[in-house]
Amino acid sequence: LSSTPPIQLGEHYFKLHPDESDPIWGNPCEDARHLKIWSRSKSCDSLPKFLVIGPQKTGTTALYSFLSMHPSLASNLPSPDTFEEIQFFNGNNYYRGLDWYMSFFPLQNATSSNSVHIGSPSGSSTNARYFFEKSATYFDGDLVPKRAHQLLPNAKLVVILISPAKRAYSWYQHTRAHGDVIANNYSFYQVITASDTAPKPLRDLRNRCLNPGKYAQHLERWLAFYPNQQLHIIDGEQLRLNPIDVMNDLQRFLKIAPLMDYSNHLRYDPKKGFYCQVLNESRNKCLGKSKGRIYPEMDEKSTKILQRYYLSHNTALVKLLKKLGSRPIPTWLKNELSTTT
Ligand code: A3P
Repeated sequence: LSSTPPIQLGEHYFKLHPDESDPIWGNPCEDARHLKIWSRSKSCDSLPKFLVIGPQKTGTTALYSFLSMHPSLASNLPSPDTFEEIQFFNGNNYYRGLDWYMSFFPLQNATSSNSVHIGSPSGSSTNARYFFEKSATYFDGDLVPKRAHQLLPNAKLVVILISPAKRAYSWYQHTRAHGDVIANNYSFYQVITASDTAPKPLRDLRNRCLNPGKYAQHLERWLAFYPNQQLHIIDGEQLRLNPIDVMNDLQRFLKIAPLMDYSNHLRYDPKKGFYCQVLNESRNKCLGKSKGRIYPEMDEKSTKILQRYYLSHNTALVKLLKKLGSRPIPTWLKNELSTTT
C-alpha cells in the first residue's frame, strides 16, 4: 500500500478544495467523537457563553466593566496586545488556534462559591462562573459570524447600538486622541466626504468611521448564522442614561441567577458625567479619560451629510427590528428618522 507523502497529499487536496484552505474551528464539545479524543485537561466550560460583539464606540467598555462586577460572570484574561479584547474571530489571531483562544479562559478563574445557572443547553456545573468575551471589532467583521457560530453555536450575542453618526464622530475623536496623523490633519467633514480617489489612509479612516454604522447589514450577517432568540440588542443611549435597567434586562436575557441589583453598584458621577461603579459612600470608580471624552459638538454640515448617508441604513434597521418582533425601536433611531424625513 503506498500513498503520496502527506505534504504533497495536502497540497493536492487543497488544490481540489480551495474553499477549505482557510481553517474553521469547530466546537469539540458538539461532537462525542471529538470529545473522546480531546485532552482530559480541556473542558467545554472554558469557552465563553456569551459574546459582546460591539460595535466600537457604543459603550462596550462600560458594559464590559459592569458585567465584570457580576459575581456570576468571568471575563477572559487580558491580552498583551489588545488588553481586555481577545479579538480572536477577526484578524490573524484566529490562525493561532483553539488552544490559544481557550487559554484566555482558565477554569480556575471560573470557580466561585456562588451557585449559578445561566440558560444554555449545555450549562451543567452549578459552582461555576460563566465566561464571556467582549471584542467590539466582531460586529462588522465579515467572517466573524460564521467563525463564531462554528465554535460557539449556543452562545448568546450582545450588541449595543447608538446613533451611527455619533458613533462615527466618536471614532474620529478616538483616532485623533491616539495621535493618528490623518485624523489630526483632516476635519471630520473632510474625512466622511473623502472620495474613492482620496489617498488610502484617508479612505481607510472614512471607512472605519462610516461602515460599522450600517447596522442592519451587519445584523443580517449575524442572523444568517444565529437565531433571533440568541441576540440581545441594547440601546446605547439607555446604557449611558439608565444602566441599572439595562443591566437588569440583560441579566434576564442571559438567564443569570441570582440577579444582581445594580442599583447598589452603579451611581451617576456628576464630575465624570456618566454612571460609575460605587466603591463606598463617597467614592466611585469611573472609566478612564479615553471613555467619555470631551470634544466639540459635530459641525452642522457633517450632521446633515450623515443624516442623509444613514437614512437608508436606519430605515432598514427599523424594518429589521420590526421583523424580529418584540424589540423596542430606540429613541435615537426614531429621532434620526423624524429629522431626515
Ligand atoms: P465618547 O468617549 O465618544 O463619549 P467604547 O467603550 O465602545 O469605545 O465606547 C466609548 C463610549 O462609551 C464613550 O464615547 C461614551 O460616550 C460611552 N459610554 C457609555 N457609558 C459610559 C460610562 N458609564 N462611562 C464612560 N463612557 C460611557
